[in-house]
Amino acid sequence: MAGRIPRSFVDDILARTDIAEIIGHYIRLVPSGKEFKSLCPFHSEKTPSFTVVPDKQFYHCFGCGKSGSAIGFLMDYANMDFVEAVEDLAHRLGLKVPHEVDDRRFAADGDHRAIFEMLERANRFFRNGLRGSDVAKEYLKGRGLGGEVAREFQIGFAPSGWEALLSELGKEASERDLLVAAGLVIRRQEDGRLYDRFRNRITFPIHDTRGRVVGFGARIIGVGEPKYLNSPETRVFHKGRELYGLWRLRRPGVVRPKRLLVVEGYMDVVGLARSGIDGAVATLGTSATPDHIRSLFRFAGDIVFCFDGDEAGRRAAWRALENTLPAMHGEDRQVRFLFLPEGEDPDSLARIEGREAFERRLQDDAIEMSRFLFEQKERDLSLRSAEGRSRLVARLLPLIRRIPSGGYRRQLEMELADLSKDRTVISFDESVVEGYRPPGRSGSKFSDRAAGGPKRSGPSKTLMRQAVRILVYDPQVALDVEDEDLEPIRDDAADLRGADILLDLIENIRRRPDISAGRLRERYRGHRWEGAILALSRDPPELFGKGDMKIEFEECLRRLREQAKRRKRRARREALSSGSVRGSNIAQGDESPALDRKASAVDDETSRALLQEGSDGR
Ligand code: UTP
Ligand code: MN
Repeated sequence: MAGRIPRSFVDDILARTDIAEIIGHYIRLVPSGKEFKSLCPFHSEKTPSFTVVPDKQFYHCFGCGKSGSAIGFLMDYANMDFVEAVEDLAHRLGLKVPHEVDDRRFAADGDHRAIFEMLERANRFFRNGLRGSDVAKEYLKGRGLGGEVAREFQIGFAPSGWEALLSELGKEASERDLLVAAGLVIRRQEDGRLYDRFRNRITFPIHDTRGRVVGFGARIIGVGEPKYLNSPETRVFHKGRELYGLWRLRRPGVVRPKRLLVVEGYMDVVGLARSGIDGAVATLGTSATPDHIRSLFRFAGDIVFCFDGDEAGRRAAWRALENTLPAMHGEDRQVRFLFLPEGEDPDSLARIEGREAFERRLQDDAIEMSRFLFEQKERDLSLRSAEGRSRLVARLLPLIRRIPSGGYRRQLEMELADLSKDRTVISFDESVVEGYRPPGRSGSKFSDRAAGGPKRSGPSKTLMRQAVRILVYDPQVALDVEDEDLEPIRDDAADLRGADILLDLIENIRRRPDISAGRLRERYRGHRWEGAILALSRDPPELFGKGDMKIEFEECLRRLREQAKRRKRRARREALSSGSVRGSNIAQGDESPALDRKASAVDDETSRALLQEGSDGR
């Protein structure tokens, strides 16, 4: 077995993992405010008391009391051991789990405390540097930044010269190693000579969400290249993860803004704050990564991305959009895009226009993510032609399908269906949201039942209905069914109400293994079974067992087989006792095409029977 996994690594992946995403892979979660609910997979229940709290990165069941992290869930539900669970999560994040060799290196490096301390010392050194530099102070003042804002953001100044920081903080060899490890000092390849990375620049410390300095951005004073230098990736600094300015908003005692503004530059964050516009954070010279999006949503449900109106800005916005789609679960998440006039950035605009005008701009000009998505993909297409409409579907559907199923995705699908006149783009699993309202509100089928209220035309408990309902909800459950398992049902099809619908559905799914629920249903448009299939797909299947569609489906089939066999035995007994074995054979219908056609005469009756409650005594 591989060596121990460092605790810091485990903490790290837990912090970066969206627990709702993980659990959502295994069971269907229904958004409920900032949380998600589901029937508990760990005990049998009729009303959902299993709750996932993304903000706190844990799940809890109020029914059976089970709770834990994403790792705990994988261990308990997916039967992984600890190492497997960690590996599973790390894999999703694209990380390798440090074991043995890596582990020893990890240990040799000690924990990161010494690096953090060095970064903090450097921060103090730079801030002192600003106090001593009139040039730097003048530059900032010229950009509208006084001492107060500089203090708030801990802005500093790295003196010129090659060894200002090095000679101050690197008196001992161990300190010099730390300065290099922290990315503050560069060791020249050729001769091993050390020198300061940041020289004669304004420094912006970057804090992680726990308020520790993890790196710096440093701007040249005036014009020059490169405009900014940034800390390199180090053991404590990953620029794909950190957001400049986020830490300030998380400090205890600070009123959390409900909306976050995501801007591109350090100066934008600082400038917006100076102009009284709070809630701005910046990515660090990269486009927003999925890690960024997760941090943003953990903080607020309302996000506005601000970009330049030019082509580069639109491209960056598009990348942000692509990374945001998978995080759009829950109805309380709203993402908008604000494109600024050419030549302006949030800092300059806020300074020229002032707070109110900028806020108004946000209000009036920020477009919804869905609009950006559609507009971008509709460009250069004519929706008056079949070609244009089908291309629109081809472009948009894959993107829309990245959104987790739920009310939001459904809305976009419906919009696409309208535009393209193609109703099959509406996938079906969203029906789970449609029928669901948080417990306690009237009209919820859960609360009705809990209160012993009137039973609506609620989910049938008959086996065949349940099996069909699962199939039209989650077609792929049929793919693992063996032919021989269907044999008894096929044999008994003539007597088993609805069996022909079930078998036909399975046939269709096998022919198109990737078929979506919506498309499957579409195949029955105009078919004599359309009514039955539509009716059964109106409500989501209610699961009686462990909350797993496939297990539930297989259980239905198993019981149907039992019934079929029982009936066959009974028929044989009766036939034997009446001495007419041949007659019963014909009644079972077998493969005769003539009988098949004859059977269709009673198909409407079959459908009707399938729709009646309790028609197959369970
Ligand atoms: P901007 O050029 O928009 O910077 O680059 P800014 O923050 O508005 O700075 P001012 O107003 O010109 O002073 C946006 C971001 O891109 C990264 C930095 O993170 C910067 O804040 N960047 C830019 C670099 O890393 N290096 C560069 O040379 C330029
Ligand atoms: Mn700027």
